[in-house]
Amino acid sequence: MPTVRGSAEDFEVDPDWADIWFGAVHPMQIEVPRFHEALQMIDERGGVAPAWFFPGMPCYVLTSHDDVHRAFLDTHTFSPRKTQEVMTFPILGPTFLGYEGREHDLHRNVVARQFTKRRSEAYVPTLLEPQAHAVIDGFCARGDADLMGEFGKQYPLAVIGGLLGIPIDDWDRMSAWASDLILGSDPDHQQQSARAFREFLLPHVDSRRGRPADDILSLLANGEVDGKALTQQQIASFMLLLFPAGADTTWLGIGNMMSAILTTPGALEALSADPELRHRAVEETLRWAPPVALVPRITARDIEIRGVGIPADSLCLLGIAAANRDPSRFREPASWILDRRPNKHISFSFGEHFCLGAHIARGEMRSALDAILDRLPGLRLVEEPTYWGASIRGPDALRVTFDPSEPGRRERR
Ligand code: HEM
Repeated sequence: MPTVRGSAEDFEVDPDWADIWFGAVHPMQIEVPRFHEALQMIDERGGVAPAWFFPGMPCYVLTSHDDVHRAFLDTHTFSPRKTQEVMTFPILGPTFLGYEGREHDLHRNVVARQFTKRRSEAYVPTLLEPQAHAVIDGFCARGDADLMGEFGKQYPLAVIGGLLGIPIDDWDRMSAWASDLILGSDPDHQQQSARAFREFLLPHVDSRRGRPADDILSLLANGEVDGKALTQQQIASFMLLLFPAGADTTWLGIGNMMSAILTTPGALEALSADPELRHRAVEETLRWAPPVALVPRITARDIEIRGVGIPADSLCLLGIAAANRDPSRFREPASWILDRRPNKHISFSFGEHFCLGAHIARGEMRSALDAILDRLPGLRLVEEPTYWGASIRGPDALRVTFDPSEPGRRERR
């Protein structure tokens, strides 16, 4: 956990939000019911405030769209390297999530061509749609399901397996490893998960050396940086990064989207009738409830923002969830509005670490929505969902009922 300047004693947290902490724990483990309210309070009182990461562990939260945007771009002050050296390198090993400048670009470029808009769109009919329908086949005959546990969890894993080019046949094991890597709270257990995951993944790399297929594994197995082949360690670390980066995020994104649609009067009917509206549901959900709600950064130098002095080596949380509800940028920011235009949310961050999988993520959420609306007619929520987590955030469960149908039956859109 981060070494943060300042101790709990000399850190003045407003008593109104002293009981609220924004720690990056697993979303299923902590309910933060006053989450948006707390961010709004910080925003109304100046836009930067000391708060708790975990109880007694200081951090600064930035809430305005301008500040969060600037902080993403200013990597000399809000250092990805310093952050990831503490947050993810100890478990995943070094990855470009924590690299900067040329080193970052060289490593990202090894795989970037599999994530372009055009490439990502090509995956829709070949990977995203078939996987979404295959997962629905598993429960559609029952007439009830937990969309978080039975759809949202498995589908993104199946997609990453397809992108990498490895079979995923043990959902529970994969999903537990993936979640544990970044979100686990016990470092020993995280190390065990990382080791087991590496042992599972690395034999697949060898199978692609000299015999490339059209997948990420082949790019990694035959990839070079500055004329040198990637090491096994570098390849394993990137693969490990991809699972939590691409699986938990999209899982929560799908949950947030279906929760918004099923609790907003008229939304389900409008989206069922007009597929052209569906990409708007994806974008508005990403704005209204970003799965990555707060992004950590450790400062590399002293800085003052809005009169608040933040010393070097402080943990800051860049409040995407607050920036996306900045009233100077978005009308009625707390409402989920299907036809919101313009909708310049920053849920995939900004600058050199802009989400590599943004196009895939959008395609996944859209294909999930198409498949759910087409295959599960009469969809209804059984109970109001509860939102969990802070740094990454979404509903813990989405229990629904629908008209049962036979597996394998796809309506034409
Ligand atoms: C709705 C889903 C998603 C959201 C909201 C999301 C959000 C983000 C954010 C905010 C970052 C920046 C992190 C930082 O600056 O510290 C990021 C980076 C990243 N994301 Fe995503 N992500 C999503 C889905 C995906 C998917 C599906 C993949 C891959 C299959 C992916 C792969 C990555 C990678 C590799 C990075 C690191 C990029 C770099 O450092 O250059 N993400 N994502």
